Amino acid sequence: MADNVLDIGDLHVSYATDRGPLRVLRGVGLTVATGGITGIVGESGCGKSTLIAAILGLLPGNAEIGGGSIRLDGQELLGLDEAGMRLLRGNGLALISQNPMAAFNPVLTIGRQLTDIQYRHAIPTALKRQRIVDMFVRVGIVDPERRLAAYPGQLSGGMLQRVAIAAALLTRPRLLIADEPTTALDVTLEAQILALLRAQHGTTILFISHHLGAVATLCDQVAVMYAGTVVETGPVAKVFADPRHPYTRRLIAADPGHLAIGGGLLPTIPGRVPDLTQPPSGCVFAPPAAWRWRGDAGP
Ligand SMILES: Nc1ncnc2c1ncn2[C@@H]1O[C@H](COP(=O)(O)OP(=O)(O)OP(=O)(O)O)[C@@H](O)[C@H]1O
Ligand SMILES: [Mg+2]
Repeated sequence: MADNVLDIGDLHVSYATDRGPLRVLRGVGLTVATGGITGIVGESGCGKSTLIAAILGLLPGNAEIGGGSIRLDGQELLGLDEAGMRLLRGNGLALISQNPMAAFNPVLTIGRQLTDIQYRHAIPTALKRQRIVDMFVRVGIVDPERRLAAYPGQLSGGMLQRVAIAAALLTRPRLLIADEPTTALDVTLEAQILALLRAQHGTTILFISHHLGAVATLCDQVAVMYAGTVVETGPVAKVFADPRHPYTRRLIAADPGHLAIGGGLLPTIPGRVPDLTQPPSGCVFAPPAAWRWRGDAGP
């Protein structure tokens, strides 16, 4: 088995827009170690979902891959045809998204849908249903038999996210990608879902979140993205305790979890992200770019 399940090198992706190409990923490099949990943090619009879509081969029609590589267990995904990608999405890659409702067909029962996703397994339907029930128990779904008969709309958001995780795990993915899976949940449910993901020993996970606390709780490694590049990467404890890049420092300082109780105004990162149809040359954050683009006195 390769050391890294996922190995992304110098990935460039742009979107065609009325204002010209929007260079959303500009040389992204990222590895996810086998069996590890890697977090991606970075503010809205920095390209996290674009990166996920590129991995899954689900970029929209106006996207163009400008170069680089995405290897899953050593296999190059860029250039793979749709049939090959579909095969991978069936068992190599699994996605848990922010909105579990969108992941399910509202007019089919949960049992039917989770049976269907096991179409690759040549086992009787009764056994498939048993696998679902076992997985439901593993992800903490009470009364699992009854849930099989339910329609997605009959389950709460937290419960449906557990079902989505169960569905993903049923395919035994080589890489489980979770794009903001707890953003729509309250803090209690978020903690439960994080504990659940953490308990899936051996499952390699790429976890995207705005919530630094969630990343600190769940992940071993973290990659900090800013304006289409990974500006810093390393073990979570090290990066959060001793950030090297000024953007990481700002991101941590702006995290509500770092506010003292009754501590007044929420810190924000001043200025704005650079216009990626005309990105500045060189570093997009460090001086003088940071002063120019983020409109403050620098790191
Ligand atoms: N199909 C598209 N065409 C043009 N621009 C797009 C398209 N999809 C996304 N963008 C733009 O690309 C940039 C990166 O978007 P992306 O969704 O990857 O960011 P993100 O980091 O996932 O943000 P968020 O944290 O809000 O989910 C944004 O400026 C977004 O508006
Ligand atoms: Mg996103």
